[in-house]
Amino acid sequence: MAAVDTNLLLRGVGALVTCDPEVGEGPLGLVRDAAVLCRHGRIEYVGPERDLPRLEGEEPLTIDLDGHLVTPGLIDCHTHLVYAGDRLDDFEARLQGDTYTALMARGGGILSTVRATRAASDELLRDLAEARVEQAVAHGVTTLEVKSGYGLDVRHELRILEVVRAANRRAIADLVPTFLGAHALPVEARRSDAARQRYVDVVIEEMLPAVVEQNLARFCDVFIEEGAFTLEEGRRVLEAAKDLGLGLKVHAEQLTCTGSAELAAELGAVSAEHLEHTSDEGIAKLAEAGTVAVLLPGAAFFLRDWMADGRKFADAGVRVAVATDLNPGSSPTNNLPLMAQMGVLGCQLTLDEAILAITSHAAAALDLHDRGVLKKGMLADLAFWRCRDPRELLYHFGIAPCSGVVKGGRYFKVEAPRPGRFRPLP
Ligand code: NIG
Ligand code: FE
Repeated sequence: MAAVDTNLLLRGVGALVTCDPEVGEGPLGLVRDAAVLCRHGRIEYVGPERDLPRLEGEEPLTIDLDGHLVTPGLIDCHTHLVYAGDRLDDFEARLQGDTYTALMARGGGILSTVRATRAASDELLRDLAEARVEQAVAHGVTTLEVKSGYGLDVRHELRILEVVRAANRRAIADLVPTFLGAHALPVEARRSDAARQRYVDVVIEEMLPAVVEQNLARFCDVFIEEGAFTLEEGRRVLEAAKDLGLGLKVHAEQLTCTGSAELAAELGAVSAEHLEHTSDEGIAKLAEAGTVAVLLPGAAFFLRDWMADGRKFADAGVRVAVATDLNPGSSPTNNLPLMAQMGVLGCQLTLDEAILAITSHAAAALDLHDRGVLKKGMLADLAFWRCRDPRELLYHFGIAPCSGVVKGGRYFKVEAPRPGRFRPLP
């Protein structure tokens, strides 16, 4: 992908999804026959091409979209993309009837990724992370949240967040770091109640202060689940993080109903994530608190669990986002448009809701107010699509219709996948 660094004018945009109902039609704020002008990395004009103001000063680089669709750059607001190794053995075992929780209890699952990640060099972790980000960009993604959680001791948790920082300096997309030291109990902490208690103390007394002091994360997340952390342990970690000024996120009710959605709401978390097993009371509390529900249908699909009912959340007035959960154990994918499509086909979202779920609502899940919507003054983060109708984004599956992204005003072309060619064997 080659970058062009100048002011940018997009003309011939057949359909422009602004995600701002004040700028265009319907919930997507759709503008037909549109133009977008970007200056100094920000949006200067969005609207009908015929109303484009006369351009003054230096001629911008102009791209003719030839009637194609343009959206805000997509935002993947939940990933675990810094890891080494794979989970092929778990995958096969689960296909033969083993369960995700049983594998975790036997020291496989997340812990096997912890072993592989601890053993990998910084350089390898960074290369792997950067490759995953680059693949996400080719799906139209310009911002990703990235969680730690495969280190599970002070040194390795900090190292993963340092890898995120290093990858962020080089990647096209912005990476937003989240500290997830309470992702699983490391082996050492499983020997006794006292050892378990000590691990939670280390998260609170050693990891969190170091993360904050070194400015390595914006959010703190906790996996509250049978076999991971209890509601009370989660509360302790989240309260400590809040006191230190971090935003809160919660891996809530992925496998069982634990009351963690209520806890997220009570503590004013910016988002509660997964939510396959949330009760109606939990949904009502999220609505009251303004906590964003981040649905991860890829994980439910891959674990053959049911998908969260997005309809219930949206009808209760909760803003719903959708993310990939990119990780080796429960959701090995970086295809965010495919997740939005699962949001429609599996989580009962409407087409419009699913597009907002990977743009403006995903920005809200990261407490980012400068992106996810196309209007004057916002970051010039955009995605171009080889189609003319926003519904088509969620129509084909397994196909990558992204033709380019603009990140902070810089244009990156995404090459079209080549049709297959057969070559005779020598
Ligand atoms: O969001 N649920 C906990 N964490 C991840 C899975 C991590 C893994 O299995 O490696 C998730 O699904
Ligand atoms: Fe996750």
